[in-house]
Amino acid sequence: MRVVSGIQPTGNLHLGNYLGAIKNWVKMQEEGECLFFLADLHAITVHNDPAELSANTREMAAALIAAGVDPEKAILFNQARVAGHAELAWMLICNTPMGWLDRMTQFKEKSGKHKQRASLGLYGYPVLQAADVLIYQATHVPVGEDQKQHLELARDIAQKFNSDFGSADSEIFTLPEAYITGDATRVMSLRDGAAKMSKSDPSEMSRINMADDDDSIAQKIRKARTDPEVLPDTFEALEGRAEAANLVNIYAATADIDVQAVLDQFAGQGFGTFKPALAELLVETLRPIREEFLRLKEDSAALDSILAAGAAKAEALGRPTVDAAYDALGLLR
Ligand code: TYM
Repeated sequence: MRVVSGIQPTGNLHLGNYLGAIKNWVKMQEEGECLFFLADLHAITVHNDPAELSANTREMAAALIAAGVDPEKAILFNQARVAGHAELAWMLICNTPMGWLDRMTQFKEKSGKHKQRASLGLYGYPVLQAADVLIYQATHVPVGEDQKQHLELARDIAQKFNSDFGSADSEIFTLPEAYITGDATRVMSLRDGAAKMSKSDPSEMSRINMADDDDSIAQKIRKARTDPEVLPDTFEALEGRAEAANLVNIYAATADIDVQAVLDQFAGQGFGTFKPALAELLVETLRPIREEFLRLKEDSAALDSILAAGAAKAEALGRPTVDAAYDALGLLR
């Protein structure tokens, strides 16, 4: 098992990232060889403020470590420090039909009404993401639901490259599997049960950031959109009540219990009871993570040395695959 995943160092780590992906990273680092990285090369596909990017990259590293990613157990680094990501991305870009990228929903969402002004990098974003996992022969890629389409594309790209340039006895790339698991693979906005919780939502009330203080967490849950009904005793009965279902999922994933156990406890009760219980659970769970984050983020030198050491290990693991891709394409070096 080779586990690889990444997160963009833009904005804050939020509850969706944590419950959808990072909690699984923390579990998987006990079970297999893991590489986790800050996708700084992805972050520059949209408007980039250089000083902010460097600061955010260190802060996101601090947030991941505070959330339980252990640089002694998992290899933690930022993408830009491992040149093989960009090298392999170019080789894959030259072998990926444009038609495959035309189907990517994220480009449509992110480029909005101004497709002609979006960067070529934003369009090619999913190919760099494919390079990120193929370079390490990843078998498992723990992500939230929103990354599923990108992982399917990575498999298609790997398969095509293997069949065009590999040989029957030596495949160049392992086909990676998206690993999407838990009750919170798609955490929704607290203001709108139809939109996912996201760093780019302009409303701060829509998401809980891992660095939020106790009062803000409690206030955001108090103001979260819900409905006037009580909680039912089965999850199926929450059909059509997206906001209510979201809060139940958040409770289950945070407490590490299944949704039925949450409903067994709260069935027949309204949000006047459920919300304070959820707020308390979140406050207690996030407080130690926030405190550790605030401490770690002050020491830039320590963070830089963790990321550089991780990058050296990642470089060594990735280089044979990059070399194999150069050779397969007939590129002399
Ligand atoms: P990013 O930075 O948007 O998100 C990081 C991880 O958090 C998950 N996530 C969520 N899960 C549940 N509910 C939500 N509301 C929610 N919002 C975010 C994401 O699914 C992701 O797992 N393109 C990637 C970064 C990336 C990557 C990779 C991931 C670059 N290369 C290679 C895996 C493998 C991204 O922008 O994630």
